[in-house]
Formats: sequence, structure tokens, C-alpha cells
Amino acid sequence: MSKLPLLILNGIPQAVALSKRVHWIGALDPSLRTFDIILKTANGTTYNAYVVRGSEGVAIIDTVKEGYANDFFARLESVARYDEIKVIVLNHLEPDHTGALPELMRRAPQAQLYISQKAQSMLKALLKQDAFSFIPVVTGDTVSLGDCSLAFFHTPYLHWPDTQCTYLPEEKTLFSGDVFGCHFCDVRLFNDEVGDFRFTFEYYYAHIMRPFKEYVNRALDLIEPLLPLDTILPAHGPLLRDQPQRYVQRYRELSRAALQTEISTDEKTLLIFYISSYGNTRRMAEAIYEGAMAVERVRVSLYDLEGSEIAPFVDLIEGADGIVFGAPTINGDAVKPVWDLLSSLAVINLKSKLGGVFGSYGWTGEGVKMVEDRLRGLKLRVPIPGIRIKLIPTEEEILSCREFGHELAQELMGLRQSKVIDMADLA
Ligand code: FEO
Repeated sequence: MSKLPLLILNGIPQAVALSKRVHWIGALDPSLRTFDIILKTANGTTYNAYVVRGSEGVAIIDTVKEGYANDFFARLESVARYDEIKVIVLNHLEPDHTGALPELMRRAPQAQLYISQKAQSMLKALLKQDAFSFIPVVTGDTVSLGDCSLAFFHTPYLHWPDTQCTYLPEEKTLFSGDVFGCHFCDVRLFNDEVGDFRFTFEYYYAHIMRPFKEYVNRALDLIEPLLPLDTILPAHGPLLRDQPQRYVQRYRELSRAALQTEISTDEKTLLIFYISSYGNTRRMAEAIYEGAMAVERVRVSLYDLEGSEIAPFVDLIEGADGIVFGAPTINGDAVKPVWDLLSSLAVINLKSKLGGVFGSYGWTGEGVKMVEDRLRGLKLRVPIPGIRIKLIPTEEEILSCREFGHELAQELMGLRQSKVIDMADLA
């Protein structure tokens, strides 16, 4: 039978000892159902904060969301006095971790605040205070607490530019901020005691970290040399004291390219998605496909949006070099399946991928331009103007679609000249 950590004694929240030097002083938020507007939280979350006691002072690592400050201060007071606090570290400035900071600084005015260099401009904007002094730190900087020390690792874009991890080498403990965290609220706190949180760990990664895979891999390059760690203490969810390296390994697995296909390094991939009411946009799609196929070393794929759920397409798009959307215009707008796919792409990095749009229309044909604008907003390159065809494409218009596909594929291979293509070659 597992032993519950003592979170409250006689109505007063208590710190939970994690080791000789470290206590958890966070807060539970079991009723939260949506985080940051987009994330579902089926059983709430925790805002984890920590006390580290050294022979020459105390450090506080992160605080909690503003409405949970009372729990945070009560737990802090159960293990430390404010005048002992020498160091306050913010691994990340999002309000769920900085809500109690202004009051903490007021109660411990002698404490020195440590934030990442990238956090400097955010501090004032988020907290709307000029009075905080702070020390900006970078990877390799350390601060001593006497018989132990804290070392900083800048891990930008996990998931904000400011994010860093803080390491306590004397206990092989990593305070990882949002990294390796998840929204999961369980009074048993520790990963070897709480309920099954695998789903939410993966879900959190997919929505928070996945858009920044490149940065995740760079952060793991910093973290993996610290293995084996005794404990990873994230800012949300279970405290990872049992086999913490499994979570590091899982991040590495999740951050690799989704599928190492048989596509060789000198090839490019171009995906064409379309949806079609009467077959007109489909005919355009097929002609674009044929035109693109004529360019060597471009692997072209053609997908009808009606034929799949969105999630597999998102995975495909993440690994593709170019994406083309066939969007008919109905009632002055591109159709919903196209918008549904586009609105699901925020979880992946699309920067500099090639984009293109085409579509059939009956009256006005705004859909193509709308989707082009959206692709640019998602940071794709859209160098070739979209192609619109009124109702049923003629033979000549089908040729122009082939040319469009050919141009897109050439652009992908860096072969596109300033427009010299013999239409006869494409017929
Ligand atoms: Fe938990 Fe990005 O804040």
C-alpha cells in the first residue's frame, strides 16, 4: 500500500520532502479542464515549485499561478523563512509559474532573481513591474548555495524563448520547467505512485513541444550528458523519481522525424491535398500531380481529404518539403475540410516549406487567395501564384495545371527558372 505524501496538516498546506535538500512547495489544481485555451486537462494540473536548501542559503525554483499563491506560501513557510531565501530561479515566465513572484519578491526582498537571458524582455511585459532586479544567466552559469549549487541550461523554445532548466548536481536532480511535464493532478505526486499518466504526457508533448522538435533535440543534447539522473522535477504533473531517463528517451524518440521513409536525401517530397464536389478540383489535382511527377527526384503524393482523418495528414505534412492544397470555393470561402486541416497544423513546424493552392469555383473564387494567405501566415513559401479555374477545366486549363505542378516541383528542386516551360512537353 503506497503512502500518501502529507500535503495538508491541520488545514495548513505542507511542503513535501523529496530529498535531503529539496522540497516540493507547489499547488494542486484538480478542477482545471482547459489550459492555455487549447489543451484539455482531464483531471486538472499541478503547478510545481521547489525549495532547495544549501548550507549558505535557500533557493526557490519557480512559483505558481496567482490564484494558488496561498498554498505555495504556506508550503514554503513550512520549511524555510523568507530571510533565508538567497536565490529565486524562474525556469520559465509564463503566468502559471510566475503568478506568486511579485509577492515572493516583496516577502524576500534580499533574494536575487535568476532568469535566462531571453527572459529579460518578457519579465517586464508579463509582470508589469519595473522594480525587479535580476541576473540573466546562460548555459554554464552557476550559483552557489554553499554545499550545493545550481547550474543553468538554456533550453529555448521548450516551449517559449525564455525557457531554461536548472540542475542540482549534488543530488543529480534536474528542475526542468515545462519540459517532461504534463497536465495531471494526483495527490500521490510521484510517478511511481500516481495513476496512469502516459496519455497526458504524450498529449502534452504533442501540443506544447512538437512544434519545436529541432529545439527539443538541442536541449536533449544538453540534458543527456547528465544521465543517469536521480530525479527530474518538472513544473507540471508527476515528479519523475522512478527511471527518469525513460522520459528523456521518450522525448528523443518523439523528436525524431516521424518516419524515416525510403526517400533518399537527394529527393524531395510534394504532397497534394484536394477535395472536390463535382470532380473539377480533382481533375486539376490530377493534372498538377502529373506535371510534378515529370520532375526527377520529386516524390509526389495525391490525397483526397475525404479519405482520411486529419491526424495522419498532419504527420505527413510535418515530414514533407512541399504541400499543395486544392480548395474549391463555395459561398465565397474555401471549404471546411481544407480549413480543418490548416487549423491543425499549429503543432508542427512549417517554416520554409513550399506551399501552393489551386481550386475550381463557380462565381467568385476567393478560396484560393484565402488559403494562400493562410499558408503565408503559417510561414510557408508561396512563390507561385495559385491557379483558379471556373467550373469545368478545359483542355488548355488542364495543361496550365500540369505546368503549375511542374513549376512547383522545379521550385522544390531549386530548378525553377523565371518561367520558360514548353507546354508541348507537358501535354
Ligand atoms: Fe507551464 Fe509554459 O507554462
